[in-house]
Amino acid sequence: MSSNRILLIIGGGIAAYKSLELIRALAKRGVATRCILTNGGSHFVTPLSVSALSGDKCYGDLFSLDDEAEMGHIELSRSADLVVVCPATADLLAKAAGGHANDLASTTLMATDKPVLMVPAMNVRMWEHAATQRNVATLRGDGVDVMEPDTGTMACGEFGPGRLPEVDVIADRIEASLERLTGPKPLKGRHALLTAGPTREPLDPVRYLSNHSSGKQGYAIARALADLGARVTLVSGPVALPAPRGVDVVQVETGRQMLAACEAALPADVFISVAAVADWRPSSPADRKLKLKDEGKGPPALSLTENPDILLTISGMAESRPELVIGFAAETDMVEENAQRKRARKGCDWIVANDVSGDVMGGSENEIALVTEAGVENWPRMGKDAVARQLAERIARKFSGPGKQKIAAE
Ligand code: CTP
Repeated sequence: MSSNRILLIIGGGIAAYKSLELIRALAKRGVATRCILTNGGSHFVTPLSVSALSGDKCYGDLFSLDDEAEMGHIELSRSADLVVVCPATADLLAKAAGGHANDLASTTLMATDKPVLMVPAMNVRMWEHAATQRNVATLRGDGVDVMEPDTGTMACGEFGPGRLPEVDVIADRIEASLERLTGPKPLKGRHALLTAGPTREPLDPVRYLSNHSSGKQGYAIARALADLGARVTLVSGPVALPAPRGVDVVQVETGRQMLAACEAALPADVFISVAAVADWRPSSPADRKLKLKDEGKGPPALSLTENPDILLTISGMAESRPELVIGFAAETDMVEENAQRKRARKGCDWIVANDVSGDVMGGSENEIALVTEAGVENWPRMGKDAVARQLAERIARKFSGPGKQKIAAE
């Protein structure tokens, strides 16, 4: 049970009545709620019900002299650990994505220094509209956590995605966010360096060799380490994922650029090599587009050169080797044996072995065997976020051994 506080912005949609249930559900979990009711929201629920359920004043008007005297809108925006917008209407999403500040809700979203969770609810066509999807992508890119709406029959009779998720699901998400924000920070003062995603090795200016890595696992680990207080540098190949909040992302394309970016980011306490670095690159990429009928020849022969092995290079550094170096092993068979061999060959401390014979590379689950100096641990199949949290906790435990505490840099 948590004892935190959220600021809840209630937008003007039919799902607004569920925000009242949310306030009650959160109160049962020990989370206090202070509310802003938008003008639209006040057509669906009254300030009196909001205030009675939250046990606090219900704020509504940006230009209210009374409210401003009691608690200014800037102070209000920072008075909670987390800002939640529920229901987040198409209009609220658009305003927040566009940086508008013409009422208390939008001004608060602009002024806050706290993380924001948005829970959209609207008609299916409004949700699927290109403008809404663009706004959601912008908000996620800005680090806002936007929940996916449920799919089902809507109040207006249409069917599809756009329904507000169940109140308990929203409360779970809020509680998990609060725990991350206010939970222990055992990695404070530590620097974690990670690689993630695929690399692209150019063949000519328009073609490249690459692989199916989605970057999901690496990004999740970066987020989990940041949640435990680490300063995180994530050197990422091209992926379709937003930068995790509080993580420094360095974008690269090729394996050689990835190695250079890692070297530039050192020193670090821990290095985690999650990227699916292309083992080979075309030996001499053409500086102009290869033509189908170049000099009347057939298809060009593909001559490949080995890429630098980033994990091996960093493991073998004499002076700047991070204290803990962790590699990944993508295997399709003999997972444990291959991982043991890979640990020795790469000179790293731990290997996170995963079986990529199924849909792991694009999917959201992973089955892990962790090979450490102490032996092999087989973890049950779980979501990539859960794998990330468990690994981050293992790393924190490793660093919290006797005599291992480090004084925070600041
Ligand atoms: N790795 C790396 N640089 C490379 C190749 C791999 O840093 N050029 C890292 C990966 O990030 C991963 C580990 O090495 O942490 C193992 O990658 P994997 O593809 O499983 O192994 P390979 O070394 O490529 O060996 P093989 O493909 O023969 O299994």
